[in-house]
Parts: sequence; structure tokens; C-alpha cells
Amino acid sequence: MTPTSDSRTPSLWIDTCPVPSFPALDRDLDVDVIVVGGGIVGVLCAHALTEAGHSVALLEARRVLHGVTGNTTAKISACHGSLYHHLASHFGDAKTQMYAEANRSAIDWIESTSLERGISCDFRRRDLYLYAEDDSAVEDLQKEAAAAQTVGLDCRLLEGLETAFPNSGALRFPGQAEFHPLKFLVALLEGAVAKGCQVFESTMANDVDEDSTTAVQTASGHSVRAEHVIVASHFPFFDPGFYYARLEPFRDYAIAFSLEGACPESMYVGSKEGYTYRCQPSPEGELLIVSGGSHKVGKHDNTVSQYAAMELFVREHFPVRAVTHMWSSQDNHAIDKVPYIGRISANAKKVYVACGFGGWGMTQGVVASQLLTSLISGQNPAIVDLYDPLRFKPLTSAPTIGKIVKDSVRGLVAERLSSGADYSMSALRPGEGNVFDTDEGKVGCFRGADGSLHAVSPVCTHLGCILAFNNAEHSWDCPCHGSRFDVEGQVLHGPAFLPLEKIAVEDTGESLA
Ligand code: FES
Repeated sequence: MTPTSDSRTPSLWIDTCPVPSFPALDRDLDVDVIVVGGGIVGVLCAHALTEAGHSVALLEARRVLHGVTGNTTAKISACHGSLYHHLASHFGDAKTQMYAEANRSAIDWIESTSLERGISCDFRRRDLYLYAEDDSAVEDLQKEAAAAQTVGLDCRLLEGLETAFPNSGALRFPGQAEFHPLKFLVALLEGAVAKGCQVFESTMANDVDEDSTTAVQTASGHSVRAEHVIVASHFPFFDPGFYYARLEPFRDYAIAFSLEGACPESMYVGSKEGYTYRCQPSPEGELLIVSGGSHKVGKHDNTVSQYAAMELFVREHFPVRAVTHMWSSQDNHAIDKVPYIGRISANAKKVYVACGFGGWGMTQGVVASQLLTSLISGQNPAIVDLYDPLRFKPLTSAPTIGKIVKDSVRGLVAERLSSGADYSMSALRPGEGNVFDTDEGKVGCFRGADGSLHAVSPVCTHLGCILAFNNAEHSWDCPCHGSRFDVEGQVLHGPAFLPLEKIAVEDTGESLA
């Protein structure tokens, strides 16, 4: 099938790499370490801890490697957009250098691990260009160059760059990398399983008890006891540290294109809102992956248009033969732009968290797994302070916290309630959804391709914000903290873990708005 902007496909990674499946947990269990979340952090932690001799249970609410990690664009880089000038201003040069070195080393670690273990994962070194979209971005790029060079990153400012798309110069970071993330991670997961790691899918963790022993409770009523718990569920399912008020969730879009002619040999990242570009070998030949269109979850009226605008732009600038894949993902941004990795709260001594990677999960996932396995092994590396989830930088954090609170308050009333009197449930066309105000309360309705009407309560089961319909992914998305639900009300993405209430409605043809 050729995808169009209103027909998604699995990501290129999920489409081209079989991922083994695992049973749901059907009993109570005792292990040394519980890892909750089967993405890059969970798999790398499970692998490292199993190799170190710990007994490990990896719990995944849905399918391992099918969440954010399976929907990444997999750029492996120490350049994370325009970041180093911000880090130097708010964290100082020493911590900024630590950040740069940790993420640069993560590239080497992926390369050496794939070589030593013979993992064929399409790893290749590539230059990455952080480009200025127009002249207004040049001054910031100059500051970024100075900050990155100060902390020892190899990079050079270029005034002009020959690309198929417009730019006003770029900062070149040589020796970054790209790979097929699932080929790499499936190999490590299988290695961990062969050494005794237990993996459970369709197993949603919904609470952690910290009494005499630490135990994770699951939605199916089972209990897993352990010495240590790692919360690597993208948005923490267990939140004693108020992470929901310290993370901003964004959705991003990606399209893979086959081209008439060669793909660019480098990676490109816009310094502001510009699209990112990289290439990837596939059974269909070399594909160009373009990503961008980022917006806050639940805050875009017409998400289909994000794909359409991206496809149009790429067709204007590249000789596109065909669109092969279209997918989207969700990234959580920490309010001061440094992920939260370490002890989840001051009281929870043996529960750890890793979240807020801001779209750069490939290197940050490696850093997180190394830091958390060090803590569990009783070490206390210097980098703990930089990533400490309990830090608070008032100057950096206050404006963003204010924005999050404002969004949450707004989210308690529907911003996009279908108030138009000309719009009724029965007028919904296939693929459309909306929230309707009825005498019985608000109802979220979606019409399927077969004409059936699916109605749920549009009240988010996390903290009660009103959901918005996402017409690109056919989901109900929360503008407050990013929970997502399918059209039947099942949770796609936390922090919510309870499904939406289903509502019986009559498809009468009369406007209920
Ligand atoms: Fe918090 Fe919806 S995710 S209210």
C-alpha cells in the first residue's frame, strides 16, 4: 500500500525487523531488579544487569520496542539541536562538558558493542549538520558553535552549505552516526533472554510499594518483588516526584521516501523548527527519512496536515519516487532540557527513573542505562549530579512550569469542544472524531472506516483534562500531560493507565451539539 497523509504505516524499523513476542505475566515473581518499560532504556538496562549476574524481570505494558523507541528516527549524535549554549548558561561549563562527553561516548559504545557482538544493525558514521533555516538563526548558531567548542566538541561553523533544501549556514559535527535501532536492540534483548532475563508483554505496571521490600503491582493483580526497580516507561507510570509537572510531551512526524537518485550522505538537523534528514538502507534501497512538525500533544487541530506539509516540502526539494512509510512518535522534554536520570524521589531509595530525553533517546538511552546500572551496582559516578531528577533550576524551570500549569488548567475545559451547532455526531465522516457537549455530559465520538460510531468519555483518566481527537493517528490525546487513548478508550501512552469509559450513543442524525 502506498501511504497517504491520512493512512499511517508501521515505522520503517518495525516494518523491517521482526521483534520476538513474550507472554503476559501470570504469577507473582521475585527477582533482583524489575525494569518497567521495553524501550531502549529498559532493554539496555535489562541486558547490562543480566550480564552482571542479576535476575531481571522486564515488564512492558504493550509490545517491547514498539513504543517511542520503535518510532524514532535513530540519529546517534552528541549534537541535540541548539543546546550547548543553553546548557553552558544554566549548568556551567563543567557539567556541559560532562553532558557532551557522555553523549559522545554513547556513540562509541553503540559502535563497539555492535562490532564486538557481531550485530548487523546498519551502523555507519555520518557527519551531522545543525543548519540555520534562515538568516535569523545565524547568530544563535554562532553562539552554539562557541559553546560546543568550549566543551571540547569537534565542530566547525560553515557559512554556506549545499543542500537540496534552503539554509543559511550550518555547524558541522563530524563522526556522528546512524543505525537500525531495532536490529541492535533485538539482538541485545535476545542475548539477555538467553542468559535468564524474563520478559513479559501486555503487563501494565500501575504502582510501586516500598515497604520492607520493593514491589511492582500490575493491572492484572500480580506482584513482582525486587531489590531495585527501574521506571523506564517513557512517562513514569509511578510518579512520586511530580514528573507530570516537569515534562512537556510533544508529537513528531516522520516520512520515509525513496528517491530518484542518490540520498544525502550526511544527517541534517534544523536549529529551530526545520525538518531533520537522514538516510537508511532498506529492502527498497536507500531511503530518505524526514522528520519534524513537532507540536505539544493534543494541541494541533489537524495533525494530518503535519504529514501533508512535510510531504509537499520534500517533494518540492527532492526527486521523490515514492513515500514508503509514515509514522509518528512522542517525546517528553525536561523543563531545563536535561533528562531526569537517577533516584525517582528523595524517599524512594531503590526506585530509579529515566525520562525527558527531548527526542534524543539513542545516546541518552545509553547514558541512562549506564548511569542506572552504576547506581544499582553501588557506584556513584560524577555524572549523577548533572542528571539528578531532584535538581531544580528556578531560572530555567519557572517559565516552563508556568506554561505546563496553564496548559493543564486550560485542559480541564475542552479547547476544541465541538461547539459548532452545525456539527453533529451523525455528521461525522469516516476517520473523523470530535468532542460533543450533550445533556448527559461530554462525549468523544469517532466514526470508523466502516461507518460505525465509537463513543467514549473524553475525560482523561490521569487528572481529568478533556481530550482532543488526533485525526492522523485516530487517537484521543491529552493536552495536559500527553496521555493517549485509542478510539475504544484503551491506553496507548501514559501517564494515564486506566482506560476511558465507553459510552452508548444513538447515531440518530440529529445534532447533539
Ligand atoms: Fe494528565 Fe491527561 S495526562 S490529565
